[in-house]
Amino acid sequence: MQDQLSALVAKATAELSTRKTRPEFEAVKARYVGPNGELTALMKQMGAVPKEQRPAMGKLVNETKARLQVLLDASLAQVEAGELQAQLGPAVDASLPSPDAGPGTYHPLTLVREEMCRILRKVGFTVADGPEVETEFYCFDALNTPISHPARDAQDTFYFPEGARFANISKKTPDEKYLLRTHTSSVQIRTMLKGPPPIRIVSPGRVYRRDTTDATHSANFHQLECLYVGRNVTVRDLKALLDYIFASLLGKDTKTRFRPHYFGYTEPSFEVDLTAQHLPKVKKEWIEIGGCGMVDPTVFEAVGYDPDVWSGYAFGMGLERLAMLLYGIDDIRYFYQNDLRFLKQFA
Ligand code: DAH
Repeated sequence: MQDQLSALVAKATAELSTRKTRPEFEAVKARYVGPNGELTALMKQMGAVPKEQRPAMGKLVNETKARLQVLLDASLAQVEAGELQAQLGPAVDASLPSPDAGPGTYHPLTLVREEMCRILRKVGFTVADGPEVETEFYCFDALNTPISHPARDAQDTFYFPEGARFANISKKTPDEKYLLRTHTSSVQIRTMLKGPPPIRIVSPGRVYRRDTTDATHSANFHQLECLYVGRNVTVRDLKALLDYIFASLLGKDTKTRFRPHYFGYTEPSFEVDLTAQHLPKVKKEWIEIGGCGMVDPTVFEAVGYDPDVWSGYAFGMGLERLAMLLYGIDDIRYFYQNDLRFLKQFA
């Protein structure tokens, strides 16, 4: 019986080593340890073993059983690994670039921003930058927006706590608060304080307001600001520039109109609407696109320019709104979700 047991282990080892699939494995397993298996049969013979040999034999049978179990476990693990490999396909080198990622594309907001800067560079504007963390002086005071103005309310604006410090953004007065800029108009002040006119800048960038997100609002969005300062600048120049940039971006059938409005930093001030019926999904006849006006003399005084010598215009608009018009996008939230199905459409 001892010989039979060791022959059985040798045979099982050989058979299991060539079995690759689960049914093959199950068949071998049944042949040895199943109800009609070879080991089971040997165990049934235990009764015929003389009494004095029985303990030694029992031990041997148990050892054989344990060895078989080890063999079966190892074989099953191999079968399972094979099944997993079959599901995964051929071996993958995870350090290689993904084969279907393709080249990256520009975000639609980047595309519109760059196109607007290109259009404005053609007529002499240069790109200016400003920080997203601002002080009240640049964001409001120097722009003739007094403390009583609703834009300065904590309900509308993200302020930093009293003790916040930003080493590279200096305050004009010790009591000013830091905030996330509510508009890119702060770059007007930063640019004018750097040097004398003439000035022709375009400044795109991120702005922040305490808005509840919906299809047309986001607490964080992008604007594009323009400032022109020279001699004898008129509303005609402003209107001509706006007509030029919107026709260049959206097509020559695009028209603009001014509606009187109030902004502290321009006088007179207007809201700008445009009509672009040739674009898909444009339903309303006139769509508000931004604010503009002739730079208020108070602003020139705040930056040390003589308002009797210098005149200028300024405007600001939302980049999301422009991109939505241009591409027929009907929900602002698509811009921020990083969904490749959306982003790939702008390749
Ligand atoms: N800052 C205004 C806003 O965020 C937009 C604006 C209006 C910008 C008039 C200007 C301007 O430069 O002259 O709504």
